[in-house]
Amino acid sequence: MNKKFLDLGFQPLANEYLNYYNKKQKKYNLKIFFNTKNKLVSISERMSSKKMFTNNYPYRSSMSKTMKSSFKNLSKTIIKKFNPYLLLEIGSNDGALITNFSKKKVVGIEPCLNLAKITKKKGYTTYNEYWDFNLSKKLRNKFKAFDLIYSANTLTHISNLEDVFKSIDNVLSEKGILIIEDPSLLECIKKNSYDQFYNEHIYLFSALSVRNLLEKFSLEIFDIKNLETHGGSLRYYIKRKENKNFKISSRVNMQIQKELRYGLNKYLTYKKFSKRVQNSKRLLLKILKKLKKNSKIIGYGATAKATTILNYCRIDNNYIDFFVDTTPEKINKFMPGKNIKIIKYNKKVLNKIDYVFLGAWNFKREILKKERKYIKNGGKFITHVPFPKIF
Ligand code: TYD
Repeated sequence: MNKKFLDLGFQPLANEYLNYYNKKQKKYNLKIFFNTKNKLVSISERMSSKKMFTNNYPYRSSMSKTMKSSFKNLSKTIIKKFNPYLLLEIGSNDGALITNFSKKKVVGIEPCLNLAKITKKKGYTTYNEYWDFNLSKKLRNKFKAFDLIYSANTLTHISNLEDVFKSIDNVLSEKGILIIEDPSLLECIKKNSYDQFYNEHIYLFSALSVRNLLEKFSLEIFDIKNLETHGGSLRYYIKRKENKNFKISSRVNMQIQKELRYGLNKYLTYKKFSKRVQNSKRLLLKILKKLKKNSKIIGYGATAKATTILNYCRIDNNYIDFFVDTTPEKINKFMPGKNIKIIKYNKKVLNKIDYVFLGAWNFKREILKKERKYIKNGGKFITHVPFPKIF
């Protein structure tokens, strides 16, 4: 049974950056549910993929050094551990992973035309399509099977998980390995990072829920890695149950136990989280109100996550003057639902700024390193993770 535990108010599409401030930008009520049976956490609203993943999608994996090097390291691990003959990436974005492989050995799936074009132009086979069973049939006819399927931050964006795994099952070779990675529900709850919830994140996975989802397809997790990316993610290594080539690592049970100890199987845990989220909103607004009186505050990293915060906490240009970001697709546009402009990042942009709200808190380390001078000159940051504070 799906039980509601959190209401994040009326929200626009998190990545719908418009050229002008539109007071009437379409919004929906973002509510979060916990399924007491399969332990899956999901959002109320299911937008169609076509509406969310358009031909001008603004998210680029290669925009941060952290993500680029994470994909590079992963490609080395994949080659060393599994040495795949043919790799399929579902959601290949701008090619941050596949471009680390030889062109003959990878196939990318990317529904957003602006992104698919980037890898196509570099000579990588890229299907500009949504991941579904029809596409898997097409791939099966052409390539027979893939011995490695990888997907990061994509499967949680697709509403029909049954079709997602059925399609994977259709093209994964007998001894094939499936690697998926997505933000970790446990980390989200622990860090109070409720901004992980927005229209594109239809699900927030845990090892508990992934294990349940795979059961039907005779697939099982044989290893798990905790990652720092996206504010704390889990990488799941999955195989067919009949494949005895890999032993199940003790890390799998360790993660499951950790999640159970934290109560991810209990509705009460989520109700408590919901209370903490409401407190977080109050505290963040208190900080901003106090600071705004005699200082200049801007936002850093026009993330989809920030859309959730701004719209839930009702933060507008009365608190934050503008956001800075490096993504070309976001420049000179407005934060979804809010009258806050996004301007192009440059080194001098933080001069004369007193406080910087970290929209991209998940890149805190990278950003603090980059902004050493700002910090040295007395500049301060504001974050809401794990609770609203100035540092
Ligand atoms: P991310 O947190 O990955 O995204 P989302 O919540 O949208 O899934 O996005 C990080 C954003 O921050 C992206 O728009 C790029 C921007 N950014 C900068 O502008 N400068 C930086 O130094 C870093 C690391 C990110």
